[in-house]
Amino acid sequence: MKLLAYHSTALPAIAFLLQSLRAGAIDPLVFNPVDAYVECEPVVFSWSGGMPPYQVGIFGTELEVLPSTNDTSITWVVNFSAGIVLRAAVRDFNTSASIPELTIMAGDNSSCISS
Ligand SMILES: *[C@@H]1O[C@H](CO)[C@@H](O)[C@H](O)[C@H]1NC(C)=O
Ligand SMILES: *[C@@H]1O[C@H](CO)[C@@H](O)[C@H](O)[C@H]1NC(C)=O
Ligand SMILES: *[C@@H]1O[C@H](CO)[C@@H](O)[C@H](O)[C@H]1NC(C)=O
Ligand SMILES: *[C@@H]1O[C@H](CO)[C@@H](O)[C@H](O)[C@H]1NC(C)=O
Repeated sequence: MKLLAYHSTALPAIAFLLQSLRAGAIDPLVFNPVDAYVECEPVVFSWSGGMPPYQVGIFGTELEVLPSTNDTSITWVVNFSAGIVLRAAVRDFNTSASIPELTIMAGDNSSCISS
């Protein structure tokens, strides 16, 4: 019984390890473009590949760096004003990937922007 329990938990882990070793290099980090930025509305940044931890940086009139995460997505409220062009990039363990810059569209209000 003990042997069976050992096998059932260890085998998937070993299989995964072998697969990782065989695969060699990890997939390159790819940052998925966002459709639009709307002032004071949340936007979801997502990416794939690379190696955690990940950190997203957004540059508008100043640089805003989001908290480091091990997830492959993060939500951010666009707290720059409409008309500002945003550039965003995600950085992983040793690489980075950026997405095309976009101009922020007007939202319902500017309540999220500190003056
Ligand atoms: C980043 O590190 C990983 C793991 O060590 C390696 O496979 C990959 O080639 C590195 N990428 C770059 C661009 O150095
Ligand atoms: C990411 O995972 C590593 C290893 O499990 C852990 O040390 C680190 O605290 C995690 N980082 C975050 C931001 O959750
Ligand atoms: C301002 O607009 C945001 C995003 O459209 C909305 O979630 C929020 O409720 C609005 N706040 C006010 C005070 O109207
Ligand atoms: C946006 O929010 C972040 C985090 O709350 C803050 O540090 C930053 O100064 C704000 N940026 C602007 C342009 O209001």
